[in-house]
Amino acid sequence: MLSATTNNLTARRSANLYKDVIDGLRAENKHLSSKYFYDEAGDKLFQQIMASPEYYPTRCELEILQHQSAEMARLFLDYSPSFDLVELGPGDASKSWFLLRELQRQRASFTYYPIDISSQVIGWLENKLPVTLPGIQLQGLNGEYLEKMQQVNTFSPNRKIVLFMGANIGNMNVPQATHFCRQLHDNLQPGDLLLVGFDLKKHPRTILDAYNDRQGHTRAFNLNLLHRINHELGGDFDIEQFEHYPVYDPGSGACKSYLISLTAQEVHIGDKTFSFRENEAIFMEISQKYTLEESELMAVQSGFEPVHTFFDSKKWFADVLWQRQP
Ligand code: AVI
Repeated sequence: MLSATTNNLTARRSANLYKDVIDGLRAENKHLSSKYFYDEAGDKLFQQIMASPEYYPTRCELEILQHQSAEMARLFLDYSPSFDLVELGPGDASKSWFLLRELQRQRASFTYYPIDISSQVIGWLENKLPVTLPGIQLQGLNGEYLEKMQQVNTFSPNRKIVLFMGANIGNMNVPQATHFCRQLHDNLQPGDLLLVGFDLKKHPRTILDAYNDRQGHTRAFNLNLLHRINHELGGDFDIEQFEHYPVYDPGSGACKSYLISLTAQEVHIGDKTFSFRENEAIFMEISQKYTLEESELMAVQSGFEPVHTFFDSKKWFADVLWQRQP
């Protein structure tokens, strides 16, 4: 049986989903938030995307972690022999695992705090990591990044190193991402470190293909949010009547996904009705791409100094290490 706390949390989350969906579909330019992509089916679809030949970011970042974790760990230890390592959105930690192992090898004294919106992710990490990384000190936190970071600050005054990898920063537009980094800055002490994964600008076709894989995993991933609204909020989206439409603008670096209504139609969610014109778009997700210079500008604007860049061999992806300024 679920505890009262779990029930409350579930009720609060589904109220947030409801409010955001209704607000988004009422807007002049309809939109839904990609943060709601990750229900159980969405998690599985994202795994399939990551394994697809077109979706390069995961493989690029994995290469960085597999080959450069020793150097990363050394830089962390130069900063402090003991620290709290906070990871925002760890997924299955298959990339950070290499860094965690290296930190253990180099005898760092640290507690690992993975923070994720998915309780399944946290439960899974708490079960698996102590098996593959014996002796790891770990406390998983299920919830919103900033709220949980504030909580970690109440646990210990230790120095902090924050990991925000996987190009998750790309799922915000540039002003939102800068604001978010400023909020991270405000939750850290001068000198603390932040490692951010940026997907870099490259040939536009390579980028567009990554969001339009031939097997249709990305299409299913976007449409899954309509399924989720049907199941969880009592909606009646006719999924067949929406088409996945990704676009990439090489100038701005914005890769955006839309769902296009193939016909004039009405959709109901509970007692609310939404009208769609034929060819009307729902904006679903941004995956912003950067040059290294653009990432450095963001560092400075949000109160950090870039101290090191880790590239993959193709220079398609960068994990950048920033230090919080006073
Ligand atoms: C999680 N995030 C960084 C992925 C991205 O590339 O924007 C989500 C994704 N959307 C479609 N494919 C992958």
